[in-house]
Amino acid sequence: MLDQLEQLPADPILGLSAACRADPNPDKVDLTVGIYMDEQGVCPVFEAIRQAQQALVAEEVSKAYMPPEGDEAFNRGMQRLVLGDDSPALADGRVSSVQTPGGCGALRIGAEIIHAATPGARVWISDPTWPIHIPLVGSVGLQFETYRYYDSAGHSVDFDGMVEDLKAAAAGDVVLLHGCCHNPCGADLAPGQWDVIAEMAERQGFTPFIDIAYQGLGDGLDQDAAGLRLMVERLPEVIVAASCSKNMGLYRERTGAAIFVCRDRRNASALTSHALTAARRLYSMPPAHGALLAGRVLAQDALRERWQAELLAMCRRINELRAQLRRQLEATTGGDFGFIDREKGMFSFLGLSPVQARRLREEHSVYMLDSSRINVAGVNAANIDYLARAVAAVF
Ligand code: LMR
Repeated sequence: MLDQLEQLPADPILGLSAACRADPNPDKVDLTVGIYMDEQGVCPVFEAIRQAQQALVAEEVSKAYMPPEGDEAFNRGMQRLVLGDDSPALADGRVSSVQTPGGCGALRIGAEIIHAATPGARVWISDPTWPIHIPLVGSVGLQFETYRYYDSAGHSVDFDGMVEDLKAAAAGDVVLLHGCCHNPCGADLAPGQWDVIAEMAERQGFTPFIDIAYQGLGDGLDQDAAGLRLMVERLPEVIVAASCSKNMGLYRERTGAAIFVCRDRRNASALTSHALTAARRLYSMPPAHGALLAGRVLAQDALRERWQAELLAMCRRINELRAQLRRQLEATTGGDFGFIDREKGMFSFLGLSPVQARRLREEHSVYMLDSSRINVAGVNAANIDYLARAVAAVF
């Protein structure tokens, strides 16, 4: 039976990261997976997380299962982090949330809920989007439509195209939006553009499903959630998938939250029952460690302040790297890379063809996705010259 299965192609992101790890070239540059790297090329543990971990290890007396909805302090902290301390939806008690295994788990639980509510729902995804959105959401049985999002020639959001395409999104449809730091293009909606999409959702009746995996790495924690909060303010229902992988560095601890803003309290309670039933079907209970750490960091003032300062430093460094990379690439290629400076978060497309991206890998050991998406946070003082010269060599 098992021998009928053929080898599948490698994952479009993790496969390239593995290829880079296997490359013996000491000058290799890994710009593949969205992981924050410091100047030494290390993905650091936040000091606030380290302190929370020491306290947890000293105090933990049991490894019994987590409650199926996850850690209470974590769920409360995540709701406030994402929706804002003063969120009227929170005050009204119409928010349901469960702890999930990473942002991926949250996306999957969100998709299961959509399918339970409207099995034929169409999910509108941006062109381009994070490639794993498709199997994560699609394998539940939902159908996809795409809306134009990135104008490769102008290196900016194709907002007219987006609005034109989303005119066809109707009640019962879901529109998947990137809360900030769009993956893969780094081009975000401006506040006025969020307004327009919120108005379309109000008028046409579609439900926003907002993936916010990079909160705090674009402009700041509150600024990065402003579009999402505007949607929550104006609409009766919003689905959110949040992640602590990047903004708390908890990648391997698989720490995320599925948050459902509902019409009323009763509906929020029903939503929790559906989310827990879906989780039980898929993985039963969420993992404990990351959420217990994040819950402490969010609940304890001293840890929270320390974490916010560390996150802000990361955010500033990414924005500084963007400015440096733009200067270096413009100097070596003579091209216009101003868009790198305007885009947000970890990712930007360099605007190279798949052939150029492959040549960078094969001839220079510079690894980026075939789409020329780079992880800006993989750039540092030691590799930026080499990277800029390599890009110029294939430009
Ligand atoms: C990425 O896009 O590189 C990250 O979200 C990591 C992943 O799981 O793909």
